[in-house]
Amino acid sequence: MHASQENPALTASGLMLHQVNIGGVTVPNNVFLAPLAGITDFPLRRLCRRFGAGLVVSEMISSQAIVRNNRRAAKMASTSREEYPLMVQISGSDPEIMAGAARMNQELGAAIIDINMGCPQRKIVKTGAGAALMKTPELAHTIICSVIDAVKCPVTVKMRLGWDTASCNVVELARAASEAGVAMITVHGRTRSQMFSGQADWEAIAEVVQAVECPVIANGDIITHRDALECLKITGAHGIMIGRGALGRPWLFKQVLSFLEDGTELPAPSLSEQYGIVREHLNGLVDFYGRKTALWLSRKHMAWYSKGLRGSSRFRKLVNYAQDIDEVFRFAEEYYQWLGQHDSAP
Ligand SMILES: Cc1cc2nc3c(=O)[nH]c(=O)nc-3n(C[C@H](O)[C@H](O)[C@H](O)COP(=O)(O)O)c2cc1C
Repeated sequence: MHASQENPALTASGLMLHQVNIGGVTVPNNVFLAPLAGITDFPLRRLCRRFGAGLVVSEMISSQAIVRNNRRAAKMASTSREEYPLMVQISGSDPEIMAGAARMNQELGAAIIDINMGCPQRKIVKTGAGAALMKTPELAHTIICSVIDAVKCPVTVKMRLGWDTASCNVVELARAASEAGVAMITVHGRTRSQMFSGQADWEAIAEVVQAVECPVIANGDIITHRDALECLKITGAHGIMIGRGALGRPWLFKQVLSFLEDGTELPAPSLSEQYGIVREHLNGLVDFYGRKTALWLSRKHMAWYSKGLRGSSRFRKLVNYAQDIDEVFRFAEEYYQWLGQHDSAP
């Protein structure tokens, strides 16, 4: 049998899993963790890197906050060798401030600067930032050029398909960004008006791939290893970015890499392995934020880790009422022990 028939990850155009050169920064593979505000902090990024994500991205950081030396923004942008190379995403609508924020992030250790042109939130778009930049292509172009001029590291952009279905201009904008010199473009296959509803349109991303020179990363609704392959096949993109699909399942990256490499479908980790990952995550939150902040951040992660597992609603309630992080550790231990006894693997 021909290799491409045996291995679902082989197509006429070659292997689906490969390194990506982002303006001189070579990342080990083309399966990335998407930026998620309030979620993709250092502890989660490090975990996803450990499970093989080729690149991780910070939460969106306000350019204003960075240039004002806001402590929280600086913490969001801080990085370490364990997650190198970090892509830091900045948002804003003022070219000078965006340039300043890019420079400061480069000094803080960002290997790549990403410009947010896709955030749909009202409080962001009303300032002309995020997805609103898709309605002001000239301003978007000025911002891209001024950020590129400000830093030595590669600059990338992440955008949606357009503001709404009547004004889908992703191809024109991507072409202009590529000509301006961005090193990579990520496209979330929805418009701003869609927010997160409906299905991401992977075919529309394929049009961007055809239109530009630089690598294009496809994003939206990749939940399983099979979605990953399907999305790469449909879009012809250089890589994919996974956001919500990795919540409570950082091991998804390992499953996707294995499937793209040779078609091997890895099961989810055993419950005792999952418990180990939960502990690693909780310890990461405590080390990075301290015990108090770790307590309230742990609640959403515990909800994601336990989603679909037996007795998860009771576990979630316990965690939500926990008085300190030690209680969360204890409830997690008891829960996973109980799950082990009741043999309720997902
Ligand atoms: C809670 C949440 C926060 C997000 N924050 C950001 C962000 O900071 N920057 C950004 O470019 N996209 C952000 N996004 C969009 C995601 O990066 C991604 O484009 C979108 O969720 C579709 O991918 P997915 O289906 O794999 O989640 C966010 C999405 C969600 C659900």
